[in-house]
Amino acid sequence: MEKTPAYPQTGVASTCRSYEEYERMFGIETDKLLGGKVLDVAGGASSFTAHLCARGIDAFAADPFYEGDRQAIVAAAAREIDTSSAKIAAMAHVYDWSYYGSPECHRRMREASLEAFADHFQSEAGGGKYLAASLPRLPFEDDMFSLVVCSHFLFLYADQFGERFHEEALRELLRIAAPGGEVRIYPLVTLAWEPVPYLDRLLRALASEADAAFVPSSLPFVPRESRVLTLRKRG
Ligand SMILES: C[S@@+](CC[C@H](N)C(=O)[O-])C[C@H]1O[C@@H](n2cnc3c(N)ncnc32)[C@H](O)[C@@H]1O
Repeated sequence: MEKTPAYPQTGVASTCRSYEEYERMFGIETDKLLGGKVLDVAGGASSFTAHLCARGIDAFAADPFYEGDRQAIVAAAAREIDTSSAKIAAMAHVYDWSYYGSPECHRRMREASLEAFADHFQSEAGGGKYLAASLPRLPFEDDMFSLVVCSHFLFLYADQFGERFHEEALRELLRIAAPGGEVRIYPLVTLAWEPVPYLDRLLRALASEADAAFVPSSLPFVPRESRVLTLRKRG
């Protein structure tokens, strides 16, 4: 059987998935988030934080991408839509289009998401909500967030960030999660659509700190099915 081609990528792209995509990926129920703090790690130009803040939820995003001039950051995210849309169109046959419909609809969703991100990111209200920060060290206090999500960074870029980085990153996400709170990560496959060989080892190393579960995701797209990793921090 022919091997599915890997997504061609040098460095880490800053993409802009929408709130709706996050909702499906992570099984988010917005009303249940009221009263707690939420963090989107490696948030890129996603509209997740903007949407949650508009719903009265105390949400933040952290990403090294937020360093520098905000207009230039939005322009870079717009260029990434062009780049990623061209790559996706060129290998459209490998993806599951049952949610997005077509490469054109996928692109339109990204453009709408970037617009919502840009409005919030460049507004006064968004000022303190987007922090320039990099795993494996984040500038937050212990036990702060009832929910921490990480979409399309951990595990996906395993060719650039190894096992040690992933263990330190997961420990950091658990440090800032509140007892009883959750860290959710998706997807669990690399850009070559392979599972990382060390995931079980990482979960064993974290077993005294968190209960791990693999939960189905409702965002069909990537060629290899992936579940969401949920880590519930012990109280
Ligand atoms: C593919 S994007 C994902 C953006 C968004 N979460 C989404 O799903 O559309 C990956 C993001 O990881 C960020 N990133 C790169 N290195 C990082 C690090 N060490 N810690 C946190 N984020 C990082 C990049 O800047 C980029 O915005």
